[in-house]
Amino acid sequence: MTNLEPIDANLKYKVKDIELAAEGRMQIELAEHEMPGLMELRKKYGKDKPLKGARIMGSLHMTVQTAVLIETLVVLGADVQWASCNIYSTQDEAAAAIAATGIPVFAWKGETLDEYWWCTAQALIFPGQKGPNLVVDDGGDASMMLMMGADAEKDPSTIDYVPEAGDEIALVKRLKAMLENSNDFFTNTIKEFKGASEETTTGVHRLYQREANGTLMFPAINVNDSVTKSKFDNTYGVRESLIDGIKRATDVMIAGKTAVVCGFGDVGKGSADGLRAYGSKVAVTEIDPICALQAAMQGYAVKTVEQMLPKGDIYVTATGNKAVITVEHMENMKDKAIVCNIGHFDNEIEVEKLEARKDVKKRNIKAQVDEYIFPDGHSIILLAGGRLVNLGCATGHSSFVMSNSFANQVMAQLMLWNDKLEQKVYRLPKSLDEEVALTHLKHLDVDLTKMSPGQAKYIGIPVEGPYKPEHYRY
Ligand code: NAD
Ligand code: ADE
Repeated sequence: MTNLEPIDANLKYKVKDIELAAEGRMQIELAEHEMPGLMELRKKYGKDKPLKGARIMGSLHMTVQTAVLIETLVVLGADVQWASCNIYSTQDEAAAAIAATGIPVFAWKGETLDEYWWCTAQALIFPGQKGPNLVVDDGGDASMMLMMGADAEKDPSTIDYVPEAGDEIALVKRLKAMLENSNDFFTNTIKEFKGASEETTTGVHRLYQREANGTLMFPAINVNDSVTKSKFDNTYGVRESLIDGIKRATDVMIAGKTAVVCGFGDVGKGSADGLRAYGSKVAVTEIDPICALQAAMQGYAVKTVEQMLPKGDIYVTATGNKAVITVEHMENMKDKAIVCNIGHFDNEIEVEKLEARKDVKKRNIKAQVDEYIFPDGHSIILLAGGRLVNLGCATGHSSFVMSNSFANQVMAQLMLWNDKLEQKVYRLPKSLDEEVALTHLKHLDVDLTKMSPGQAKYIGIPVEGPYKPEHYRY
């Protein structure tokens, strides 16, 4: 027997404080005004309830914006249960507001890793011990739990190992505890399962890896690579929410400082832009020659972390890779350098190794802000324990950009529910991407130019979309 909190299929919710519901509701109402994509989908599909019969489990940051997504899925007819995909990202007032409407939610800001997997398991178990038939995933944890659980029910030795990282240690512990009570929950769930829609770059990588090695157990939709998701949320969302996180955590003056952004993909581009807009001198690190050239052409210095150690005041990792900032790097940084991560997991910065160093002292400045003091007396300031700084130290991206991402999520759920799909990773059709963009143009007072048929013929593309890949301009 383990000493883990038992799963209770009858539990309606677990949030920090249900009394925060009224506060959360007012914020949700404000967000609705800035989320025209989701509100349009409610108008379009609310009457027909095309998700009737769907049991949707969500594993995605439990923020105000996510609350608008959850309530949209409910308006479309689904039964929904939710957990966050990060131990620090829940907005407790949003979780309370959702719980108060009777939608089961298991999330609070500052979960332990054991609590995190308890919340995920709780959200997976619907009344009558049923599993979900759809998942909205962000980072792939819910999908991973389903697939690892199904494997372990067939062959318990698959979870008979000692994982390296804290997150996985807690998952394996939780799965072992679940197997003591049932040996067919995951197997039965997978049998009826229609698929998962994946929000983020890192989760999408995990899905493609499973597809390539033949272990993907259900259809999945890569929402991240819809243009109206990755080219907007990952870049324009981050451009604002990274600064928000650093500011709320440290109040540091960003102007004049030297910032180092590791990775110049979609998130790195937004990070570098945001820091430069505030007056930072920004250096970028990259492994990809094309991204490095892009950074150089935009006027950024492109250097290595090692080269920047004597100068950097603020370090941001945005690679989706591991050990990008090592303990050795932190040992050689300037005094009071700020170190944070905006990629999905907590291993871009070597936090576990830093924590294990007996000669490095830790001082908690406030929630999600820690100072690590090295033997020579210099210190670094680590934000959100090396997890997503924009969601750990602030409230994530703004509603408007999340409306784009989440409109894609809703359409992915509709596709998984209504279409017969294979066990593959799909993307949404281009026509839906354009529909998402069109819905949001109205909100920004944008007037599109319409080509004449003669012009369309002249450049060889249709008067109206959907355009083919060779016609893309972004
Ligand atoms: P991306 O693939 O577009 O960019 C990653 C970049 O990092 C690539 O250009 C790659 O060449 C570079 N890179 C890889 N290893 C490197 C290393 N060791 N040093 C320097 N550069 C390296 O991915 P993305 O869409 O920008 O996403 C990055 C991460 O951010 C992912 O983990 C993703 O899930 C996450 N994400 C976070 C948020 C958020 O709100 N915090 C939003 C979207 C995505
Ligand atoms: N990812 C980034 N920002 C977010 C937000 N505000 N809500 C949910 N997921 C997010």
